Amino acid sequence: QYTNVRYPIPFDPPFVPEDNPAGVYRTFYNYTPDGMKRILAFEGADSCLYLYVNGSFAGYTQVSHSTSEFDVTDMLRKGRNEIICIVLKWCDGTYLEDQDKWRMSGIFRDVYMLSRPQNSINSYKIDYTLSAKFFNASFTIEADSEESCTVKLYDPEMNLIRTEHTINGKVSFVLESPVLWNAEKPLLYSLTIENGSEIIGERIGIRKIEIKNSTLLLNGTAIKIKGVNRHDSYCDTGYVSSKEQLLNDLKLMKSLNVNAVRTSHYPNAPIFYRMCDEMGFYVINEADIEMHGNVDVYNMDDHKKPYDYNGIAYSASDSRFEKAVLDRVSRLVSRDIHHPCVIMWSLGNESGYGENFRKAALLVKSMDSTRPVHYESRCALDDTDFSVIDVISNMYASTSDITDRILKDKNEQRPYILCEYCHAMGNGPGDLEDYWQIIYSNDRFCGGLVWEWCDHGIYMGETENGKAKYYYGGDFGETVHDGNFCIDGLLYPDRTPHTGALEMKNVYRPVRVTREIDNIYRFTNTLDFTSAEELYTCICTVEADGEKIFEQNVPFSVKPKNKSIIKIQHPVPPKDKNVSIKFSFSGKDGSEVGFDSIILNSAKPVLVPEKITGSTSFDETDSDYRITFGKNVCTLSKRTALISSVLSDNKELFEKPAEFNLFRAPTDNDIGIKNHWYKLRLNELKPRVYSISASKNKECAVISAQLSLGAPVHEPIARLDLDYTFYPDGSINISCRTKIHHAVKFLPRFGLRFFLPDSFENVTYYGFGPHESYVDKCRSTYPSVFNSTVAKLHEDYIRPQENGSHCFCKFASLTDGTGTFTVRADNFSFNASHYSQEELTSKLHNFELEESGSTILCADYKMSGVGSNSCGQELLEQYCLDEKEFTFELMLEIN
Ligand code: GAL
Ligand code: MG
Repeated sequence: QYTNVRYPIPFDPPFVPEDNPAGVYRTFYNYTPDGMKRILAFEGADSCLYLYVNGSFAGYTQVSHSTSEFDVTDMLRKGRNEIICIVLKWCDGTYLEDQDKWRMSGIFRDVYMLSRPQNSINSYKIDYTLSAKFFNASFTIEADSEESCTVKLYDPEMNLIRTEHTINGKVSFVLESPVLWNAEKPLLYSLTIENGSEIIGERIGIRKIEIKNSTLLLNGTAIKIKGVNRHDSYCDTGYVSSKEQLLNDLKLMKSLNVNAVRTSHYPNAPIFYRMCDEMGFYVINEADIEMHGNVDVYNMDDHKKPYDYNGIAYSASDSRFEKAVLDRVSRLVSRDIHHPCVIMWSLGNESGYGENFRKAALLVKSMDSTRPVHYESRCALDDTDFSVIDVISNMYASTSDITDRILKDKNEQRPYILCEYCHAMGNGPGDLEDYWQIIYSNDRFCGGLVWEWCDHGIYMGETENGKAKYYYGGDFGETVHDGNFCIDGLLYPDRTPHTGALEMKNVYRPVRVTREIDNIYRFTNTLDFTSAEELYTCICTVEADGEKIFEQNVPFSVKPKNKSIIKIQHPVPPKDKNVSIKFSFSGKDGSEVGFDSIILNSAKPVLVPEKITGSTSFDETDSDYRITFGKNVCTLSKRTALISSVLSDNKELFEKPAEFNLFRAPTDNDIGIKNHWYKLRLNELKPRVYSISASKNKECAVISAQLSLGAPVHEPIARLDLDYTFYPDGSINISCRTKIHHAVKFLPRFGLRFFLPDSFENVTYYGFGPHESYVDKCRSTYPSVFNSTVAKLHEDYIRPQENGSHCFCKFASLTDGTGTFTVRADNFSFNASHYSQEELTSKLHNFELEESGSTILCADYKMSGVGSNSCGQELLEQYCLDEKEFTFELMLEIN
């Protein structure tokens, strides 16, 4: 069962249903008494666990994502011991674990038996403070041992640099000139505490996180959080995250220029933080608390109370929940306090605000005064003091709200962060760069974390054609579920990056290049601690109409957070060509970390043949014109003013008549606008021709029509003045002066759709590629000439939707090896697919898709952007096709 906000059980705390699924686990443990204690540790069991040793009750625990330890020494017998765990799906903790997730249950993290000396240390704390200029670190180590412990400190190269002894459980010393830790250079010291036969080891990253002048600082430097939210969720192992899976996730994040993770919305496995310490990630470590379902609980009686989102805080100020909230935050802090990667404690997610959380913040601060406290969920039933929260955090605030209101609020001085933004569901997000323009321009704004890392489809085997089947909410027959809202990540369930992940990678790129003037460029290093040239090399290439005309290794140096001016001796861009320059930065291993592509010249495509020789002819029937031009014969319907057939060398190119197309298969991010589109019936538009005439104009045949595009119920959506000019070389110029009805907010697209034989498989285009690109989601693509196939252009979203388009194109050409069909226009968008938009709209899963049997080519004047409105802001105005009058001119070449 997948549910997002709503509780999967009746809200009746502390009771849960009697029908409570249970898992019974049994194993055996061989014990040889050796004077040592035996502690049985569970790192995660959902939702609660009863432990029995040799048939006797040994203890109970809950809080799914935290470690529980049981001292079972006294219950063990020499030899074989039976250990049984009963794990229940629901317990009263369920009310605090209402995260947006698959509701699974069981033991999902490591279980182990620790063997420890009788007088072992139970608690220890390694504290240090850094002097003002970070010249030295004053350490204090405390351990609850009466014996003197030996403390050893090793430098990052593992040289022993210090040996100390605790007196009355405590020792202090000063380390001079410490090497500091940051996510870019995660250098770690090692520290051991020896207590008799036991040695406890910790890795120490020396760093200072603080807030000064409204800015989040690490080691005195303002940092930017280039983050993602990550759930413990895999398509084949569910909540189980093995070391390999975690490592793979973190490596992938590094390769996508991510430097921060929010552990949404519970603590991760202990090993995760070790890896983040070592690999260099900033972690916003979140307590295992979410009580989102309160929104619906509170609003149950909609006769009495209007729908009120503040109801989310129903339990936040209910004292019955206080102990549980405090228990959960204190277990978070005590377990992970020594990890340098943890830069903030987060009190949980979407539980509203109230006294329980104010107390939780104070408790966290009393346990650890070195890290800021984060909590986003500010809605409350009362006016409980929120000043105990150290950062102002939002999710999905719109770019305009951030610039116009939030960052302008003079009464608010706390640093600002987006703990969730750019909802990465389906085709999107399209507004990453828009957010980063603001983040880079404001010191108070310390960054954001994309929602979310991965799609949570459940792997259900393969179809007969070998395609993976992923299920989402509802596919298991659940009654309460939230459909495909769990398919909202940057990666497909098998961890293949979406194009949205590539977009994020390049928006998070470490070096940015802009053109100052002519051949003078400005390099900006977005890293906070490292000079770019230490890590990367740069190659610059200039292309004219897709041909490389210049290439150079660019020597450069840019200090962290700095800029430098670089001159490139490239040729003056020819005026009649599409010229662009690309700066590509690669790491030591040769892989690209980011690039900038800058258009140096954009040539208007010539939409008439270069030379016009020969002639064209036409004849007509009552219903059609037949135009003979070059080796082509075209039939154009008088009733629709559209081409219904093109015979080229006597071979039919059009499997169906061409169509005007003002619709697209709604994306997940079209959630807010698609009902408007459906209301206007953009998917049902039919042409109504008022007049149509043909004439000969020198060597050409010209057909002109006035028509509208309309659907039942409303006035026509578009009124068109359409001219076709047929040239003797077999090409057609189409010019379409268009007026759009004022009631249309914005169109998904405006263009023509052609149905070619599916043997037209090879594609060549000039435009933003190599993968899909949209006006607002094109930062991981660049202009060039690309070759591909129609099959490869398809981006296979788990829930089918508009995909695979390319923006800012100059031509797109399809061929079956003998014939070619080329479209030219200025900065148009094209799409070629074997799937119709109707098929993409009607199917719920990618594995159900059936090919149409044609190659469907869409040539659009424009295609609206994709945005992130599935949970985020509305599509920004500049990416909406909201023009009310425009001319779409294109050229079809049929050879
Ligand atoms: C947020 C929430 C996330 C997730 C997201 C929608 O409000 O914190 O857990 O539900 O919305 O995908
Ligand atoms: Mg939620």
